Amino acid sequence: MSKKTQLRLEKLLGLLADGKFHSGQSLAEQLEISRTAVWKLIQKIQQWQVTVYSIRGRGYQIPGGLELLDKQVIERALVENNELFKQVISLTSIDSTSSYLSEDWQANPGKGRVCVAEHQTAGRGRKGRQWISPFGANFYFSIGLELPLGLSALGGVSLVVGMSLCDTLNQYVGGKIRIKWPNDLLIGEKKLAGILVEASGETNDVSFLNIGVGVNWSMEAAQGDAIDQPWTNLKSHLTQAISRNEILSSVLVNLDCALQRFLANGFSPLTESWSSQSAFYNREVEIHLPNQTITGKEVGIEPNGALKIETSKGIEIFHSGEVSLRKRKLVNTEA
Ligand code: BTN
Repeated sequence: MSKKTQLRLEKLLGLLADGKFHSGQSLAEQLEISRTAVWKLIQKIQQWQVTVYSIRGRGYQIPGGLELLDKQVIERALVENNELFKQVISLTSIDSTSSYLSEDWQANPGKGRVCVAEHQTAGRGRKGRQWISPFGANFYFSIGLELPLGLSALGGVSLVVGMSLCDTLNQYVGGKIRIKWPNDLLIGEKKLAGILVEASGETNDVSFLNIGVGVNWSMEAAQGDAIDQPWTNLKSHLTQAISRNEILSSVLVNLDCALQRFLANGFSPLTESWSSQSAFYNREVEIHLPNQTITGKEVGIEPNGALKIETSKGIEIFHSGEVSLRKRKLVNTEA
């Protein structure tokens, strides 16, 4: 897409964000393009999974409107409060904020920054999975940082990110969110948010961290149709009205703070509070490894972020694997 088209698209989204009807003629005049060109831009927006009504005689409408991310609001919060990352790169649509950030970092390493986007065409999840990213329906962001740590010390970072995110978001939903090791956020057994931490470093004392976070905000069933596991969104659990920009700003400010504490003290002081935030602490779980499934009770976390499971052989430590609640065997009690 050319820069000109992108700017027009952004302006059009800004006009339709109020949730009101806008005639094709008035949009064409404000964008200084033809009505046919407006229609083409509307189609592009629909491809990004935004519902746009087109009603003869009334024009176009995004039902319910959109609250678009506001770079200035977010950047102001970071400049006032943050130490590790203050700069905001705000994009309308990108393949993946994580991919964008790692390229941006290679071209221009140094200062911490965050890249936020309204839409991703190739959002990436853990283990090579796709991260479904409809326009404006969720939060997608990646934080790029250089940290004075060797790669081996980074085990706890992704857990620190999950814990901070969990704490911040819990303020808005009455404490319903828990963590599934290592760092998925759940409400009940439904996924709310995921974290993808990628690290690279050539020496033992400096690493580049790329922390990608996706939080479901208002995604609807049709938009998340392709997701192959139960999921939920934050908006349907809110206990108070709150703006998307306010939530994102406080998530980013609290994350900066949590990462600073991690740099100063490491992960060990957090092991107990991790257990209190864990969805499956003290519960019977299955841990799925490439060639086997182990069952046991989740009993805590190691200072390096590994999971402790009490199995029939004693306490076993896991550095990887997919955890789920143990399925109960159905016993037939009929005679
Ligand atoms: C997971 O599989 O649970 C991790 C999902 C991480 C998704 C986020 S969305 C923002 C950033 N950009 C990406 O491409 N992925 C991460």
